[in-house]
Order: sequence, then structure tokens, then C-alpha cells
Amino acid sequence: MGYELSNDQVAEAVNWRRHLHENPELGFEEKETSAFIASKLSEWGYEVTGGYGKTGLVGTLKKGTSHQVIGIRADMDALPITEGTSAPYASKTPGVMHACGHDGHVASALAAAKALVDQDFDGTVKFIFQPAEENEGGARVMIEDGLFEDHDVHAVFGMHNWPALPVGTLVARADQMMAAFGTFEIIVKGKGAHGAMPHEGADPVVAASQLVTALQTISSRNVSPLLSAVVSVTQIHGGDAWNVIPEQVVLRGTTRWFDEEVGERIEKRVAEVAVSIAGALGCEAIVDYLVRYPATINDATQAEVVRTTAAQLPYLRVVDALPSMAAEDFAFMLRDKPGCYFWLGAARSKGENPGLHSSKYDFNDEVLPLAASFWISLVQSILKVADRDDR
Ligand code: NI
Repeated sequence: MGYELSNDQVAEAVNWRRHLHENPELGFEEKETSAFIASKLSEWGYEVTGGYGKTGLVGTLKKGTSHQVIGIRADMDALPITEGTSAPYASKTPGVMHACGHDGHVASALAAAKALVDQDFDGTVKFIFQPAEENEGGARVMIEDGLFEDHDVHAVFGMHNWPALPVGTLVARADQMMAAFGTFEIIVKGKGAHGAMPHEGADPVVAASQLVTALQTISSRNVSPLLSAVVSVTQIHGGDAWNVIPEQVVLRGTTRWFDEEVGERIEKRVAEVAVSIAGALGCEAIVDYLVRYPATINDATQAEVVRTTAAQLPYLRVVDALPSMAAEDFAFMLRDKPGCYFWLGAARSKGENPGLHSSKYDFNDEVLPLAASFWISLVQSILKVADRDDR
């Protein structure tokens, strides 16, 4: 039951993955990656359309007579991190590396795309290769560039390797998978003074310090304990001298939530708390708050399709897990189309198991055949060829 890649197919996919790993490109700059993908897809007979989010592209393969269309998304971008692995195929580009495994996501989608050319299915499969998943919202830009007007999929699917789970496991929740996220910058403006004469100024360091702790009351006192919310101040910048109270301090951080009302409440409270605390201490707060990605919420029916397909495969085991407070821009696709985003376990069984975004992280190649075979099985289970006897 289901598809399983041959050893030659796996070896080829591993080569692609390592080639991509060696040549990482940042968000919206995935030119070589995109050209590599486009040339393979064209060679295999896919219709390739580009121009979505600069480097994003779609490869389409149609078989049979069904009008059913599904989309499979793979992200292409790397991160601004200096690689700390000693892999022979380590990044050749200083300061840029595939630390989130998008090299593996692309390679497994390509392996599936190639194998599907020789497999039976009835309908249309569209492989969506997206730029800039990390922070810049490449999925949103692809959609703004007409992705779903040109490629009207009935359902869309996305996968992420998950080093916290063992290889061979799959998580596809029926609802929340990944959180929504916002970012904020708060400039606390005071009045500089000599450090020995604080009463002559308005100290933004003291105001910023109180603000950091006050912001923690948003999740603990403004949001129901039964809902999820995170407010993390991750940067504090201010002052240059031992004995000078600076003019201003800059705070930056990130917020996370699932429920939209919670998101609105966090945004409102960050501004209120900042302005009030700063004001009470004779300073002024200038708040710049940005809502970045919505929450990644699966469609229950499509999640069930993913779980049912996985449950039939001998090499995959469906497991339960809590959602993650990290964010994912596949959320934008799921806002427009029903679909499912799932995790494939990717823990290394031997030695260290560095997490996503670690400079020591390297996509676990054991996941490649599982991911590719799963994609093929998913296509064949949704775009099912009718029983020949029925025709
Ligand atoms: Ni990622």
C-alpha cells in the first residue's frame, strides 16, 4: 500500500538536497534555487510558471480527466546564519545557511514530482515552490501576485521537518498547528542627564525596565489562562557611557497567539502599557507594532486525509502533539484555501540533534524518502484513479 522510493531515487534526492545545502540563498533571492527547480520540472514535462513573489514558481502536471487540483508547497529560502556544521556539503556562501531544512523540503518535493511522472493519478498536481518563508512572508507575496487566481487548487498541503520528533512520525492536527506572530519596537524617549544628577532628566532606562516587566502582565493578566499568548522582549538598546542617562532606549520583541481576538488584545495592550508606563515616569513611548503572520490553522477534513494516508503507509506513524508557538507563513495559503500543514519527525538517532535555526542543524536525509513517498501517496489517494471495472 502506498508508494516507496527506490534506492536510486533516494540517492538522487540526497544529491539534490546537498547541492541546495551547499548553495543557500536568502528570502526573495532564491534565483539559483528557483532556476534549478524550474529546469528539473521542465525536463520532466511539467508546465512551469514563475513570477510569484520574485523567485516563486509552480510546476503543474495533469493526468486523466478529473478536474480535481491539489497543491503541494515547498519553501526554498535559507537563513542569515553562519554554518557551524562540518558537513562536506556545508554552505559555500558566508553568513547564509539552510538551518531550517528547506533544502530538504525542496528535494523531497522534487523527488515526488519526478516519480509522479510515471505514476497513475487522475487530476492535476501543482508543486508550489515559495520564496522567503522566514519572516518576509513569501507565501503572502505569491498570493498577491496571483498564485491562486492562476492556480485554483481545491486543497493545499505543506510539510515541515521536525527535529523534536522521531523519524517516521507525522503530526497533522485538525486545527491549530503554528501560532500567529507580531513584532514590536518601542522607543522610550526621556531626557538625558548626568548619571549623578538623575532628577534633572527623565530616565528612559528606568522606564524601559518597568515596561519590560509590565509587558509580561499582558499574557498573565489580560488574556484568559485557557488561551495562548506570548509577549517576549528580545532586545534592549540604550546608553553609551557609565555616567550618562541616555535620551532614549529602544525595546524590540515578538508576540504570539492563536485566537484573533487575543491577537487584537495583545496589540492594543502593548501600546497602552508602553504609553502609560513611559508617561507615568516622565517619558514618551513611540510604539511600532506589526502583525506579521496569521495562525496556521488546518482544515479538519484535509488533516484527516493526511492522517488517513499516512496511517496506511508502513514507514509512517501518526502521532499527536501540541501546536507550536513558532510561526509559519503557509498560514496565508491556509487562509485562502482548505488544506493541511504537517510535521514529519526528523530527530537524529545518533549524536547531537540540533534544533531548527541552529548553526549546527543539518536536514536529516533519512526524512527525504519518507517525505517524497508520502507526497506521492497523498496525490494518489486524493486524485484517485477510478476502478477500471466501473468505467
Ligand atoms: Ni522552516
